[in-house]
Amino acid sequence: MAIRFTGAQCSRLQFSAMTKPRVLSGMRPTGALHIGHYHGALKNWVRLQHEHDCYFFVADWHALTTHYDDHADLERNVYDMVVDWLAAGIEPERATLFIQSRLPEHAELFTLLAMGTPLSWLERVPTYKDQIRSLPGRDLATYGFLGYPLLQAADILIYKAAFVPVGEDQAPHVEITREVARRFNHLYGRGATVLPEPATLLTETSRLPGLDGQKMSKSLGNDIAMREEPAEVERKVCRMQTDPQRVRRSDKGDPQRCPVWQFHRVYSDADTQAWVTTGCTTAGIGCLECKRPVIDAILKEQAPWRERAESYLANSKQVQWIVEVGTEQARGIARRTMRDVRAAMGLVY
Ligand code: TRP
Ligand code: SF4
Repeated sequence: MAIRFTGAQCSRLQFSAMTKPRVLSGMRPTGALHIGHYHGALKNWVRLQHEHDCYFFVADWHALTTHYDDHADLERNVYDMVVDWLAAGIEPERATLFIQSRLPEHAELFTLLAMGTPLSWLERVPTYKDQIRSLPGRDLATYGFLGYPLLQAADILIYKAAFVPVGEDQAPHVEITREVARRFNHLYGRGATVLPEPATLLTETSRLPGLDGQKMSKSLGNDIAMREEPAEVERKVCRMQTDPQRVRRSDKGDPQRCPVWQFHRVYSDADTQAWVTTGCTTAGIGCLECKRPVIDAILKEQAPWRERAESYLANSKQVQWIVEVGTEQARGIARRTMRDVRAAMGLVY
């Protein structure tokens, strides 16, 4: 299929690539996103696209590192997630969106980096043991799972990204990426930097817990989807847990013990927050009353997402096209890097 760039995408290619530092980040395709994803990562991506040359990709191979036996929903999950990126305000004229598995160059770099990467580097990555512990039902004694931080290193280095916006949990992966780049340059660079070391752009997250105060997650059933129906948003927040010590309306509460307060910290202004603190600690307000401004704020935040998502869902070809153009744009860079890498390693015969 011939790829035609729109005017806006063309000028972006020519100018932003020259003037703006490159940012790269990825997400596993978990399907439709929840508001925790938005406040934890996506909001930051939307902001970054204005000052950086942004590359955001669907890390579908990464999903297979843990869920290799469970690929039935993969395609739907990929597109549901991309729709939510666009719904959140990622603009295809500003950011390049693509799918990892469409770029075999990532696998080639992964293979070449694997040759010189000590096993111990991978075994000591904190997420390795953490994830095995947090997914006890899965057999993660696989080669792919151990190697996944190195695949991530390839994802990053192949674009020579200057910055990688990630949450705290992913920071060790950027660290190992830096070590891998340093080692590559040392082994094959002959004094030149073939693969530049990226910097971590630690996302300042407004921590939004789930409805029960635990980490928000679809599998725990404590989430609010970005595109949740308004009536569902209302029902979910109304049923949300509050300070367990505030059993009766007349009991005084403590916002610090209440997940609703964490929502106020994200969604409410100083006046509303003061109203909550005073009302809660003096039993001046009831919990349902306290939840009202949170419900209203979520509904207000959702309105433009729902509107954008609707127009993309009405035209799914448009979403595929955005990803198609983004993938070809990414491929141009990935291919150039691989030429440098092969030349450095003497693989040019
Ligand atoms: N490992 C990341 C996660 O699980 C996703 C990811 C894959 C990524 N490759 C990346 C993030 C490269 C940043 C850069 O969330
Ligand atoms: Fe939580 Fe608000 Fe109820 Fe206090 S009044 S316990 S902050 S919901």
